[in-house]
Amino acid sequence: MMPLLLSFPLLVLLPLPVLAQDIQYTLQHNVTNIYGTWSSGSQNVVTGAGFAQPANMSFIYPKTTGMSYSFTSDGYYEIARYRMNGNGTSPNCITGVMNWCHGTYELVSNGSITMTPFGDGYQQIQDPCAAISNFMQNYNDTELYVQWTIYQDPTLGYMLQLYQFDGSPLPPMALLSTSPNMLPTQPLRNVSTASAATKKKRHLEQREMMVERSSSGEPRRLAGGSRALLGGLVILLWSVGMGSVFM
Ligand SMILES: *[C@@H]1O[C@H](CO)[C@@H](O)[C@H](O)[C@H]1NC(C)=O
Ligand SMILES: *[C@@H]1O[C@H](CO)[C@@H](O)[C@H](O)[C@H]1NC(C)=O
Ligand SMILES: *[C@@H]1O[C@H](CO)[C@@H](O)[C@H](O)[C@H]1NC(C)=O
Ligand SMILES: *[C@@H]1O[C@H](CO)[C@@H](O)[C@H](O)[C@H]1NC(C)=O
Ligand SMILES: *[C@@H]1O[C@H](CO)[C@@H](O)[C@H](O)[C@H]1NC(C)=O
Ligand SMILES: *[C@@H]1O[C@H](CO)[C@@H](O)[C@H](O)[C@H]1NC(C)=O
Repeated sequence: MMPLLLSFPLLVLLPLPVLAQDIQYTLQHNVTNIYGTWSSGSQNVVTGAGFAQPANMSFIYPKTTGMSYSFTSDGYYEIARYRMNGNGTSPNCITGVMNWCHGTYELVSNGSITMTPFGDGYQQIQDPCAAISNFMQNYNDTELYVQWTIYQDPTLGYMLQLYQFDGSPLPPMALLSTSPNMLPTQPLRNVSTASAATKKKRHLEQREMMVERSSSGEPRRLAGGSRALLGGLVILLWSVGMGSVFM
């Protein structure tokens, strides 16, 4: 039914009605299974201890932006994301977002993946033009990916393609290792439910991702000295109950 899949993987932008069909664990759907660690772009972003230190809510910044997903064979996932949001009107106002979470996932029979976080996820937002130019917040969004495929790229090897809640594709991720590189699959810090009340704003998240895909290359991380100015973006986003401005 999808004979071109293996040779033209990037053309697999299926229309939504097709996405709704039942999952197929066939060679056409995934040429290998999803277990392991996947990473986009130049693969400097990788899940595990080299990215997030949940106990003290800190991050180790990768050399370049990107995203990484890990899956165990017994239902656990971890996500590491590092992205920059460009700002056309104010080129100096580049927002950097580091995001980490983990929890349990399910390969749903309708072809989607649901990811339910443990509640200990967090993210750091750096906006040199915001009133608060650098802050941490809890991140605990349940995520839905309406479809996924795994194909083999001639040079990069196995590639995981995830489609977001609205069907739009994420950047493809290459398989780094078949054994997942992950932090322990349990809550790694205590979060009070009151402070974890960040709710989903996926439309916002979606727009952020669009920005990334349309920008060329992978910008380097914010210079330390550029974080001190004021502006409205983060406040605005926060005030609509954000929690999900990440890549
Ligand atoms: C597939 O199942 C998930 C989980 O139950 C649900 O959220 C999603 O809407 C379903 N997708 C379709 C296309 O029905
Ligand atoms: C596709 O992925 C599923 C889940 O990881 C796995 O059970 C199945 O064996 C995979 N199919 C192939 C052909 O590897
Ligand atoms: C957080 O903890 C790690 C060890 O787990 C340590 O290496 C790091 O310096 C700490 N970071 C901060 C900001 O305290
Ligand atoms: C995180 O989200 C999950 C799934 O919605 C929920 O069960 C859990 O209570 C949340 N945890 C916190 C600390 O808010
Ligand atoms: C959470 O708090 C409880 C009680 O103080 C403690 O026993 C537990 O080790 C803490 N868990 C983590 C992951 O820090
Ligand atoms: C760009 O920066 C300006 C000035 O700080 C700000 O008002 C505007 O909201 C920003 N736009 C985006 C898309 O971030």
